[in-house]
Amino acid sequence: MNLAVNVDHVATLREARGGMEPDPVHAAVLAELGGAVGIVCHLREDRRHINDRDVRVLRDVITTKLDLEMAATPEIIAFALEIVPDLITLVPEKREELTTEGGLAVAGNEEYLADVTRMFHERGILVSLFIEPEALQIDAAVRCGVDIIELHTGTYANARSGAGRRIQLERLRSASRYAAEAELIVTAGHGLDLRNLEAICSIPEIEEVSIGHALVGRALFVGFEQAVREFVAAVT
Ligand code: PXP
Repeated sequence: MNLAVNVDHVATLREARGGMEPDPVHAAVLAELGGAVGIVCHLREDRRHINDRDVRVLRDVITTKLDLEMAATPEIIAFALEIVPDLITLVPEKREELTTEGGLAVAGNEEYLADVTRMFHERGILVSLFIEPEALQIDAAVRCGVDIIELHTGTYANARSGAGRRIQLERLRSASRYAAEAELIVTAGHGLDLRNLEAICSIPEIEEVSIGHALVGRALFVGFEQAVREFVAAVT
């Protein structure tokens, strides 16, 4: 399994003082040196962490792949079409949330999302949808013509009891199988850390995980590149 590193929280720390440091671009370079196969950043409508400059510089500097996480709003779509990341991941976005709270409502919005997907495909950009591990959303993702689905692992990660965690793991396992049978590439992310990652790695269809918060937290103690190496070792 591969690791993609989300650098949003490096920018969160920078924004706490409104200066230049720490720079998410610096973190992205160290993540690549540590073995990450891709860099993820979420350009939010309110620019609370990653900003336009970060995405532009990341596009120039990184040599693996740039995954731009974004809401499917006209302003951000126009920006993404200008930047041409390797991949865009469409997520739901609410101003009041601390982090992305759930999967995208794909079912019921196929017409719009298929149009957006077509626009990105015309520029050679792959499209991923961040969704709940549900057949309803997977079927809708197939109808949109996307390349990848990223399964939301937040409910699994937040489950308090062992039984609850096992139920969520089973949902992820069967959704992964279902999506792979539909010829979608399957990835996963949200709330993953060095403790809960092992079970996710037991799902063979999940090709990649996207991890930010726990990795940036670990980096405070061991350094960014070393933290990435630890997470790479945990997924391989
Ligand atoms: N995937 C998506 C779609 C996300 O929105 C996030 C959070 O930005 C992540 C993965 C990474 O989650 P975490 O920061 O909890 O590792």
